[in-house]
Parts: sequence; structure tokens; C-alpha cells
Amino acid sequence: MEDEPVNIREFEERAKQVLPKMFFDYYNGGAEDEHTLRENMEAFKRIMLRPRILVDVSKIDMSTTLLGYKMQSPIIVAPTGIHKYAHPEGEVATARAAAACNTLMVLSFSSSRKLEDVASSCNSLRFYQLYVYKNREVSATLVRRAEKYGFKAIVLTVDTPRLGRREKDIKNKLILPQLSNLEGLLNVDVEQKGGSDLEAFASQTLDPSLCWKDIEWLRSITSLPIILKGILTAEDAVKAVEIGASGIVVSNHGGRQLDYAPATISVLEEVVKAVSGAVPVLLDGGVRRGTDVFKALALGAKAVLVGRPILYGLAAKGENGVKSVIKMLQGELELTMALCGTPSINDITRKHAQTEGDRIRS
Ligand code: FNR
Repeated sequence: MEDEPVNIREFEERAKQVLPKMFFDYYNGGAEDEHTLRENMEAFKRIMLRPRILVDVSKIDMSTTLLGYKMQSPIIVAPTGIHKYAHPEGEVATARAAAACNTLMVLSFSSSRKLEDVASSCNSLRFYQLYVYKNREVSATLVRRAEKYGFKAIVLTVDTPRLGRREKDIKNKLILPQLSNLEGLLNVDVEQKGGSDLEAFASQTLDPSLCWKDIEWLRSITSLPIILKGILTAEDAVKAVEIGASGIVVSNHGGRQLDYAPATISVLEEVVKAVSGAVPVLLDGGVRRGTDVFKALALGAKAVLVGRPILYGLAAKGENGVKSVIKMLQGELELTMALCGTPSINDITRKHAQTEGDRIRS
């Protein structure tokens, strides 16, 4: 029998062993030189922790809230596409695992299971991630279905007016399955011109004209809170608050869109300062350890989303693998909190992290 993976890196290795190359590359790859993909992780490594000692850490409470919803920990399942590449049960397995860990899941627009099936499979807290298509009625229909089936917020992804150039998918000629939630809604002819299906599909569907005024349109069709995912600058964070967003996700799409976009952890503070507490700021990209979660919280994130590690867990061991990944990150965060002398999430402050900037200034 194979040993249990002891960290996310080992889950990644396991996923690589079991998945066909085309699917592993789709999950793991990034845009162009994959510089941003690597930097997301490297930038975390350049931040050190400032532990405080002789604090009673006999009880650690990782619980927190988001938009009024209680969460067991500040670790959230990020929206990622096509979980059926990893496991036949796809997003249903992921949702069940998230529910078992009392973890919020954001279901991707590019889900390979119907949102109705995901909703009825378990009782988890769930948000719905949206892309706005050229055919607005497709997106509007999806929003209405998400609302009806108990999704509590819309996470609008705003960093994808066009698809980033993912060279591994192009080389592999990635085959895109029918996206379950779009059945009957889209009449798109995916014609591969030597690239990946995904690229051809995205260029026919995504609306590159989407801009700030369109958020009004989205608000007019739903009463759910709207979170904007894919903000990397103070300027856009301020605009997001002005137009009434209920939250912001500092994200570069896991390095899959604009290569040389900055590592998310390196711009988190800029965004947090600009927003000055008006709405919760979340972060994703490169979170692979409990210490990464802790660093993001110390720099002002309310919570983090985790993308690829969930897919590694799903590929390695289905629903149980996703549970193991979530529990592993939660366990690592709990230990980090104990070793840093922060028994609750509110105890984690800016002073518990030391950035490169701090080292230069001191
Ligand atoms: C994504 N991501 C993504 N984001 C989104 O808004 N809608 C989507 O459909 C997808 N699909 C998707 C597929 C795959 C395979 C990956 C890896 C990522 C981006 C995702 O939500 C998140 O921003 C990143 O995954 C975070 O980076 P890490 O945790 O993977 O490093």
C-alpha cells in the first residue's frame, strides 16, 4: 500500500502519477512562461513569521465569518473547471468533501456537473462563480439557477476578457467536454485550429467588452451579493467598493491569465489598504501550506481560496482525497496559530509577518 501524502506537494506528485498528461497539465499549468504561476508560490516563501511566545494556546479557534456566514476555518475551495478530469463524480465529490469539512465551496461556471446535482448532493455553504458571456442570457440563466438552488453569492471573475495563453493545453490539444450547466444554452461551434478546444470555446463565448457599468446589469438580475474575483491593484479595489461589490478576491487566476501579473501575496496589502475595511478582501494563488494561509491573514486577508491542491486531492483519492487536503491545510494552520501565539483568527495581526519590505525598512 502506498504511503499517505504528508503534504500538498506529495498530493501533487500523486496526481501527476494517476492523471493522463493532458489533464494534469490543464490543472497544473499556467500562462506563457508560467512566471506568475511560480511567483505566486515563491513570494510566500519570502515572507517570514514573527511568533509570539508564552501565550495560552491550549485551545485554537480557526473559525471566522464571511458575508455573515460562519466558516470553520478561513480556507475556501476556489472555483476550478472540469473536476471530472480528476474523478468521475467530479464537482459532486468535491462538494461533499467541502461539506464534511464545513468549508465554503465556490462552484465554477466551467463545472462538469450540473449545479442542481452539486446543490442536492450535500448541505454545504456554496457560492457560484460566473463568467459573463457574449450571450448575456446564458449568464443570466445560470445566475437564476444558482439563486434558486441555494448558492449564497455570485463570484464574478473579472480577469478573463480573453483566455490566457496556456501553452501546455495548446500543445496537448486539450479536449473540452460538454460543460454540464451550459447544456441546451449555447450554440457554439468549437472548431479547433491546431490549439486547444478550451481556447476556441473561450474566444467564441467570453465577452471582452465587459466593463464596470455591466456590474449594474448583474445587480439588476440578482439580489445575491456580488464578489469580484481577479483584482490586483488599489485603483480597481477602490472602484469595486464604489460600485457596491460585497467582496474582493485578490487573484491572478493562479497564473493562468496574464503572465507577469504580480504574485497575489505581494499586492494584498495594497488592496487591503485601499479598501480600508469597507468589504472583505480574500486572496488566492499559491497557497500550499497552513503558514501561507497565516501569512495572508496577517497581511489583511479575511480568508483564502485554494485551487490546484483540491484537484490534486480529487485526482489522488476522490472525495476522501479532497477531505484530506482540506484537513491537512486546516491542521497546518492550526499548528501555525499555536506556534505563533495566536489562539484565534482575530489575534493574527500585521506584526506576525515580516515581508521583504519590512526587512529593508528596519
Ligand atoms: C482555475 N481558476 C478558475 N477561476 C475561475 O474564476 N473560474 C474557473 O472556471 C477557473 N478554472 C480553473 C481551472 C483550473 C484547473 C485552475 C487551476 C484554476 C482559477 C482559480 O479559481 C484560482 O484563482 C487559482 O486556482 C488559485 O491558484 P492556486 O490555488 O491554484 O495556486
